[in-house]
Amino acid sequence: MDFTAYYENQKKIVDNYLKNRLAKKGISKVDDAMQYSLLAGGKRIRPILLMATAEALGTKGYNFLPVACGLEMIHSYSLIHDDLPCMDNDDYRRGRLTNHKVFGEAMAVLAGDGLLTLAFEVMLEQTNVDPKALIETVREMAMCAGNYGMVGGQALDLEYENKEITAEELRKMHAGKTGALFIAAVRGGAHLANANEQELLALTKFADLLGLAFQITDDILDVEGTSAELGKPVGSDAKNHKSTYVSLYTLEGAKALAQKTVDEALQCLEMFGHDADALREITKMMCGRKN
Ligand code: IPE
Ligand code: IPE
Ligand code: MG
Ligand code: MG
Ligand code: MG
Repeated sequence: MDFTAYYENQKKIVDNYLKNRLAKKGISKVDDAMQYSLLAGGKRIRPILLMATAEALGTKGYNFLPVACGLEMIHSYSLIHDDLPCMDNDDYRRGRLTNHKVFGEAMAVLAGDGLLTLAFEVMLEQTNVDPKALIETVREMAMCAGNYGMVGGQALDLEYENKEITAEELRKMHAGKTGALFIAAVRGGAHLANANEQELLALTKFADLLGLAFQITDDILDVEGTSAELGKPVGSDAKNHKSTYVSLYTLEGAKALAQKTVDEALQCLEMFGHDADALREITKMMCGRKN
């Protein structure tokens, strides 16, 4: 498959959906702050992953755009809050000033709140699916986004600053702050495409490993990436004395672990045949990506 063309096309579909959906305005200027971050680009990997999972199960991914784009809104909110002065205190994101630098801290907090809430409204606009599958998908999205998942992981990230932590603690933190939304994406696509238990099990393991590889790579890029390519500052983790895969395993160790994790993730896809080729390409993209 021509994966570059595939990815660009999927990204365009997601960008268009988000843009059109945000045209429905609320009652205040918080809309501008929400729009600023949500429409600022980004790889859109989570919604694309959700759709590619549905494709691996033989359905059309774009049928599930409302749920996929709701998930991207949750991700976008998490980045606005992650960049705040009380968190990572970063000035650039996706090549532009961070939300609080443009709109002020209070409005950035509200823009995050607005996106998180809108995400659930948009997900429940999904039609033409089994209502039971949609309820389970949205329930899992909530679990993965909150204190069992991303929010919990972000809290561990703060707790582990300036601390020597174990490999298990680091794994738990990564599973929460990044892994959970990858699991939400993949399991969401799987539920909506009516996966069976065996498929769901393999895909969940796949998503957990993919999320881990993604965050290990993010940690590596924070050390050896360029801010021009990343669109966000490098050295943010060292500045904040974060515990990362690089700080615990060294750069070379982290790279080896990322590669091993990608290989393990690919093994989970064996039962899916060619329909899972997009998922395979997304997985391979993890190592060696520049942003
Ligand atoms: C960055 O996510 C935060 C992490 C969880 C590592 P992405 O690398 O997906 O950010 P965008 O959406 O492409 O900007
Ligand atoms: C953040 O991890 C993960 C989130 C849940 C937002 P990072 O703090 O490493 O993400 P970047 O590097 O700022 O994108
Ligand atoms: Mg952070
Ligand atoms: Mg950060
Ligand atoms: Mg990072």
